[in-house]
Amino acid sequence: MWRQSVQRKCLSSSSLWALAVQIRSLHSSPCLLKKSRTSAEQRWLQRQLRDPYVKASHHNNFRCRSAFKLLEIDDQFRLLQPGHSVVDCGAAPGAWSQVAVQRVNSAGTDPELPRGTVVGIDLLHIPPLDGAHFLSCHDATDAATQARLLELLPAGRAHVILSDMAPNASGFRDLDHEKLVTMCLSLIDLAEKALLPGGALLCKYWDGALAHSLQARLCGMFGNVRSLKPDASRKDSAERYFLARVYREPAR
Ligand SMILES: C[S@@+](CC[C@H](N)C(=O)[O-])C[C@H]1O[C@@H](n2cnc3c(N)ncnc32)[C@H](O)[C@@H]1O
Repeated sequence: MWRQSVQRKCLSSSSLWALAVQIRSLHSSPCLLKKSRTSAEQRWLQRQLRDPYVKASHHNNFRCRSAFKLLEIDDQFRLLQPGHSVVDCGAAPGAWSQVAVQRVNSAGTDPELPRGTVVGIDLLHIPPLDGAHFLSCHDATDAATQARLLELLPAGRAHVILSDMAPNASGFRDLDHEKLVTMCLSLIDLAEKALLPGGALLCKYWDGALAHSLQARLCGMFGNVRSLKPDASRKDSAERYFLARVYREPAR
């Protein structure tokens, strides 16, 4: 199962992007599946076509289906409030940022509500989005990026740090798990620099041996930590999220 999901991830991002664009016009072009494609591309395409979240993301103009994971979590826990400052790590192509912009009113859509801030960071290019400031081609774990981020946040602080970051999968489950946990640990460093007391960190991890120690680190800093698997997260994926709420700022 892990190998299958890695194989899917190993399709080049440019070919996946091209396929994703074609899926948007799929219903008007039923021959899409018949074009000459590798079997991995065929499998990926068929799974996308069957996926209700892919369909719903097209209807709602979300840049990808992952929007529904954040919507589901936010509907339950109300992390994103109008006026909040939000950091979105691993933001490309920008679906989580779309959700954050709506919920914190950072595009000023509702003039009656306070206007929030959304800053997204990704190694890749993130297409522009009204209400968000993007640091494209930046490594969110890098100290220089984190310093630049603080300059963009009001008073240098955030109410919420989101991370849907994931490294390129190597195919070695333990190695990939460790890499992602290391990235989560760098988010803990970022939280110590940027998070307001009472703030929240939502970060993706791939389940594995180090999950408990990551959870223990979070429990030392936050009043409430839980592990979540939203319905929109694929059942055959090791993906889960830690939601850590009520940040306790250490005495300085
Ligand atoms: C699953 S995608 C995120 C999808 C995004 N949440 C959305 O809704 O559009 C994971 C992203 O993490 C990014 N990423 C991986 N390592 C990163 C790093 N060190 N710094 C910033 N972004 C990173 C990848 O480039 C990729 O775009």
